[in-house]
Amino acid sequence: MAKTPTGKNTSGRGQRDLKVKVKTARGRKLSSTRWLQRQLNDPYVKRAQAEGYRGRAAYKIMELDDKYRFLVPGARVVDLGCAPGGWCQVAVKRVNALGEKSGKRIGTVLGIDLQEVEPIAGAEIHQLDFMEDDADEKVKAWLGGKADVVMSDMAAASSGHKQTDHLRIIALCETAAYFAFDVLEQGGTFVAKVLAGGAEGDLQKLLKQKFEKVANVKPPASRSDSSEKFVVATGFRG
Ligand SMILES: C[S@@+](CC[C@H](N)C(=O)[O-])C[C@H]1O[C@@H](n2cnc3c(N)ncnc32)[C@H](O)[C@@H]1O
Repeated sequence: MAKTPTGKNTSGRGQRDLKVKVKTARGRKLSSTRWLQRQLNDPYVKRAQAEGYRGRAAYKIMELDDKYRFLVPGARVVDLGCAPGGWCQVAVKRVNALGEKSGKRIGTVLGIDLQEVEPIAGAEIHQLDFMEDDADEKVKAWLGGKADVVMSDMAAASSGHKQTDHLRIIALCETAAYFAFDVLEQGGTFVAKVLAGGAEGDLQKLLKQKFEKVANVKPPASRSDSSEKFVVATGFRG
């Protein structure tokens, strides 16, 4: 029987329509009302609240990892653009950063973001602009060695201009990719968010030279009306 992300059955007679409707309030823009209504009715938002994740983004990395299996116990992970912390929370559990899975190797999680992030047990988090000149050197020093996974969910605040946003996210993604080439262990994985829009071809070419496999994935938790997708590059050639 089909289940919603909250684990409830979707079938069944006489189910009431439980959608929350948001009334337009004075002073609230129509776009904000629509955003609020979508948030309140989003099953991934509800599931994140119920399961203690800091945002629905957590399910994107879970779904990618369920498919490609890179967050394994013992893995050393770098999470670029980690605020508010959903991906870090998932990584801490899956790489066994707190040593909760007895008999399994203990991994590490290092997160960075422009914004301040509430501490997460098992993760080391720093506030940093990854586009600063010496940002990669700082992250390398915190890392203190190689990484098995570099993942980036970095996205600049929307400019409202689709092509500009696309170019900005590609720049973030390319910077993350060059950092990954520098720190990844042979066989390592690079995961990054991109927006479909045309300029990602060069990045794909580059990744194909450096990794054995490069996949473009739209996980179910990624909203269908967003042009967001993820590149998952596995088997770093070193
Ligand atoms: C979609 S959010 C990440 C959500 C996160 N994966 C989670 O699960 O909570 C994108 C993040 O990228 C960060 N970001 C954007 N540009 C950045 C930069 N230059 N350096 C560091 N972080 C950046 C933003 O501050 C924002 O918190």
